[in-house]
Amino acid sequence: MRYRCSVLAPNVRRFERRWPRDGVRRMIFDALYESAQRGELLLIDGGFCHWHLRRDGQLTIREIISTRPGAGSEMLARLMTVPGATCIVAKCPATLEANGWYHRRGFALAGTEITRFGKVLNIWKLSIVPVATADSLK
Ligand SMILES: CC(C)(COP(=O)(O)OP(=O)(O)OC[C@H]1O[C@@H](n2cnc3c(N)ncnc32)[C@H](O)[C@@H]1OP(=O)(O)O)[C@@H](O)C(=O)NCCC(=O)NCCS
Repeated sequence: MRYRCSVLAPNVRRFERRWPRDGVRRMIFDALYESAQRGELLLIDGGFCHWHLRRDGQLTIREIISTRPGAGSEMLARLMTVPGATCIVAKCPATLEANGWYHRRGFALAGTEITRFGKVLNIWKLSIVPVATADSLK
């Protein structure tokens, strides 16, 4: 099987070494299907984002991919309006250009993490400031 996404491919290959391919396919499909059932898959023209909202308000970007300039920012704007989300967190391999995008979009580097395979992940965090509405100011 060929994976066109450079972010997912290394992880999938590691899974494949450990589990039969059908098992890997089922795991990925199940995870995406469960997220879709919870409304945690965002699909727009030229963009895909798989995310998860934790009970403490942290919205984690699991995967985000844009094939159209502007789609990344559009998805981010949508994520910022998810009810209950107080911050957005993404772990991005330090070697990816996407780190520049997180920085440019206002995310702060909250730390780094080393995976058990020795890969450095940057942890990007963006706080969501609640927008005051006329009702909330009454
Ligand atoms: C990261 C990604 C989702 C961004 O989506 P995008 O649609 O290309 O981004 P947008 O066009 O919405 O971003 C526009 C803004 O970000 C800036 N920007 C875009 N890519 C950038 C980069 N690599 N470094 C720095 N700034 C960047 C643009 O200059 C622009 O800034 P401005 O609005 O101030 O002029 C996209 O590049 C992508 O899919 N990358 C491959 C997958 C990936 O690495 N995902 C993240 C895994 S952690």
